[in-house]
Amino acid sequence: MKITILYFSKTGNTEKAASYIKEGMLTAGDFEIRLMNLNHPESVDSQFINDSEAVIMGTPTYVANMCWQFKKWFDEDWSCQLGGKMGAAFATANAMHGGGDIALQSMISHMLVRGMLTYSSGAGCGRPYIHLGPIGIGVNNGVEERKDFFELFGKRVGEQALRLFVK
Ligand SMILES: Cc1cc2nc3c(=O)[nH]c(=O)nc-3n(C[C@H](O)[C@H](O)[C@H](O)COP(=O)(O)O)c2cc1C
Repeated sequence: MKITILYFSKTGNTEKAASYIKEGMLTAGDFEIRLMNLNHPESVDSQFINDSEAVIMGTPTYVANMCWQFKKWFDEDWSCQLGGKMGAAFATANAMHGGGDIALQSMISHMLVRGMLTYSSGAGCGRPYIHLGPIGIGVNNGVEERKDFFELFGKRVGEQALRLFVK
């Protein structure tokens, strides 16, 4: 099964989170996973996204919301047929109350408009609790501190994708 992890990352935090998610996901199954950074458009392969059963999306928090680069992608790039695919969101932020949850909600709203089957691996999935999605907070080592969360999120998303798409 193909899975895309699509994110925007300029200074590397969200990219690191994406790599931890990939590691966790690979503990759940033998997926073909591609990481694509909207900051490097040449890494974004629309065909692979279209072939993916799940598209996990990550954003840095910019002005208490998703970054404008991801918003632009959602608004303008309709070459990817996201309807019916599984979607899940993750974020990074600098501050505890810097709006990471709002960034996640915005991402999830866009996924819903695209007809994605959104999944948070939320608190109902047990401890440790993840709510709307994992957030790495703090520019120095915030993502490393949440490494276990990002890995767990990846594992849960992988398990759910198998449940949904493997008969
Ligand atoms: C333009 C801009 C706006 C930002 N706004 C916020 C913010 O509102 N809240 C916050 O917690 N962090 C904010 N940050 C910090 C980033 O969310 C944080 O450094 C993020 O981890 C960067 O991701 P990256 O390393 O993947 O590029 C902002 C950073 C930039 C460049």
